[in-house]
Amino acid sequence: MSKPIIAVNNLVKTFGLGDVKFQAIKNLNFTINRNDFIVMVGPSGSGKSTLLNILSGLEVADEGNVRYEETDINHLSSANRTKFRKNNIGYVFQKYLLLSNLTAAENIAVGVNNKEDLDKIPDLLERFGLEEHQHKLPSELSGGQQQRVSILRALIKKPKVLICDEPTGALDQHSSKEVLKVIQQFHEETDMTIIMVTHDNKIPLIGNRIIEIKDGEIKNVIEQQPKKVKEIDW
Ligand SMILES: Nc1ncnc2c1ncn2[C@@H]1O[C@H](COP(=O)(O)OP(=O)(O)O)[C@@H](O)[C@H]1O
Ligand SMILES: [Mg+2]
Repeated sequence: MSKPIIAVNNLVKTFGLGDVKFQAIKNLNFTINRNDFIVMVGPSGSGKSTLLNILSGLEVADEGNVRYEETDINHLSSANRTKFRKNNIGYVFQKYLLLSNLTAAENIAVGVNNKEDLDKIPDLLERFGLEEHQHKLPSELSGGQQQRVSILRALIKKPKVLICDEPTGALDQHSSKEVLKVIQQFHEETDMTIIMVTHDNKIPLIGNRIIEIKDGEIKNVIEQQPKKVKEIDW
């Protein structure tokens, strides 16, 4: 068994001050292996987004470690954490968060770390059905197209880990499938690790592990043979 790519130990996150403290994450422990496709599920308010924010270094936990191999990102300086995130982690939000004054192609370029990767944008746009839309602004794109742009923005730097918070939460079923196919294809072609939160009841089928979160704790873990997006009866 290879070493985990992420090891989370005794993670605690509390919001609020004084008497109105609220523990959103309660002593979480788990590991994630390279090329895992983890799907996280659980009721609204159970701490899923908080956990993803901590795993990506957007937020810090009050206690515990988030080790990416040798690096505990929960104990890095803010500047080093930002650097780590830029080099290693891609993040996809439910609301796309594209820059409204940049075209589709320019938004993807925002994610580039190494200049050479700029040359890959035309090919990616073509492969993911966005070629004819590359000069459009986000306001001229459908939700599904915007989300595919935001995924390519996250993937263009070849992150070790892709973190997605309800990436299809604002999309219809057809667009959701297109978006999931893009993610699944990258997962299969590379050794990228994926952590995805969803409310959909079919999407968990594409993961090799489902982690169920409730009230800031892991309630259940299911290991399974992942299914292809196109094999699922939506
Ligand atoms: N910045 C914050 N300040 C105070 N409470 C927060 C903050 N972020 C999240 N919470 C609380 O933590 C809990 C978990 O929230 P969240 O992680 O967004 O849940 P989920 O993504 O599972 O719906 C909720 O009760 C939420 O109100
Ligand atoms: Mg959430």
